This record gives sequence, structure tokens and C-alpha cells, in this order.
Amino acid sequence: MHIAHSIDDLRKITTGWKQQGETIALVPTMGNLHSGHLQLVKAAREQHTKSVVSIFVNPLQFGPDEDFDSYPRTLSADAEAVADVGADLIFAPSVAEMYPDGQDTHVEVKLPYLANLLCGEHRPGHFDGVGTVVLKLFNIVQPHSAFFGEKDFQQLLLLKTISRQLNVPVDVQGVPTVRADDGLALSSRNQYLTAAERTIAPLLQTTLQTIATALAAGNRNYAELETAGIASLRKAGFEPDYIQVRDADTLAAPSDTTHHLRILAAARLGGARLIDNIGAARA
Ligand code: PAF
Repeated sequence: MHIAHSIDDLRKITTGWKQQGETIALVPTMGNLHSGHLQLVKAAREQHTKSVVSIFVNPLQFGPDEDFDSYPRTLSADAEAVADVGADLIFAPSVAEMYPDGQDTHVEVKLPYLANLLCGEHRPGHFDGVGTVVLKLFNIVQPHSAFFGEKDFQQLLLLKTISRQLNVPVDVQGVPTVRADDGLALSSRNQYLTAAERTIAPLLQTTLQTIATALAAGNRNYAELETAGIASLRKAGFEPDYIQVRDADTLAAPSDTTHHLRILAAARLGGARLIDNIGAARA
């Protein structure tokens, strides 16, 4: 498995591919890959003849008190996992390669609305950092499509919006969340949980399911359902940031014209900040 650390090295390979008529998929990641990431590679390979996995822990998307320094970096294990599922190339640049002019004066992609609600409210600047790095990766790799997990539903919608509004010729695709047998969404941050916390963590998903069941039965008292969900998470030891029922297409509060609902949540459990979301029918 070749690992390109520089943009020049990567471009030599991808330019050759394009000349040979290959189509390219990009799977952007921060590494420490689990089966959720590998599912993205599988989806990429079903649609394209070449796939690139980028591995870059992006400082721009971490707040000052967040886990940028301690975020797990496991490049050699990741390279093996990526090779096993048949990806063609890893792009693993350094911070200096990505931000040669420094981070503070770098152009940023800002989304006034989508970046500032839900997780954006609790992680100021996070989604501007995500949008900026992903747009850079799109320009560097110039893929036909890019694949992202639905676990980060707000991120997925934001990246689709950037692609559409800035006319980026990359088809942004979402892939369903991969879960452990007990329902916990797979995440690199799950490893921050102690054994005791890990047994409690699936409650995040069951709380969302309880709300989905009530919505399907015709309950439209969103605020009451959200408050009850928050209370049951608190009782189990979580510190919830939010649980919200939203329009799945806009992430706005549901209106009479809403077709699809999405229930989204973020909560801290010990040293981990967990996020999850599920779709819901409205009776
Ligand atoms: O979802 C992630 O791992 C990151 O936010 C992404 C999309 C790779 C950008 O750094």
C-alpha cells in the first residue's frame, strides 16, 4: 500500500489514473480506522475503479480544549486495514503540507447557518475547519465522488451544501452508520470510554429509538420528547449537549412541509463526547 505524504506525490499518481480513464473515489478520514471507515471504502470501491483514503488529523477542526494532541494516530495499522479492503492509495500529509502558510491566516470556508447549530453551537469553529480541510482535499485529490459516514449527519449535510453552493464537481455521498452489536455507533472516540461507561453508552442509541417510536405513533410534541430523552441520559450518567428532532433535509425545526425527520444527539460520557442520529417516520 503506497502512502503519499506530499501533494506532489499524490498528484503524480492520480493524474496517471485520470489519463488512463480511471474514476476516483475519496474517503476522507482522521485515521484510527474502524469498520465504519472500511464500509466507506467498500462503498467507494463499488462505484469507482480507484479509491484514495486520506488520513489527516486536522487541527483546524479542534477547539483549544479538545483532543487534537491525544487523538489516536495509528498509521501503520490503518495502512494494513485499508490494504485489506482493497483501497489503492493513502494520502497522509503533515500539518505543514496542508497549511504551509500557517493555520491562523488560512482561507476558511464558512457556512453561516448549518455550521452554527446543533454540534456547531457546542463546538464553535469546528465545521468551518471541517469544510476548509475537505474542500482542500477535494482540490488536491480531484475525486469524482467522496464518501462520508451518516454518523456525522450534520457534517454530511454541510459538505453536500458546500459542494452544491460552491459548484464543486464532487458527488458527496453518505453511507449508513455502522454499529456494534449492542447498537453503539462505531467511533474512534469510543476508546476514551472506560469498561463501565462502554456498557452505558448504547443508551444514547436506544434513547433515539424511543423517540422514533413515539414519532411513528403520531406524537408531535418534539420538545417533550427531547426533554424526556435528555432526562434519561442524565440519569444514566451522561452530560447531554442536545437531543433534537429536526427536518432531515435542512436540520431546521420540523414544519408542516417536512417530509423526513432526523433525531440527533450529542452527549458526554466520561472523557468521550458521543454523537448519534437516526431517521424517523412522521405519522
Ligand atoms: O469525519 C471526519 O473524520 C473528519 O471530520 C473529516 C471529514 C475527515 C475532516 O477532517
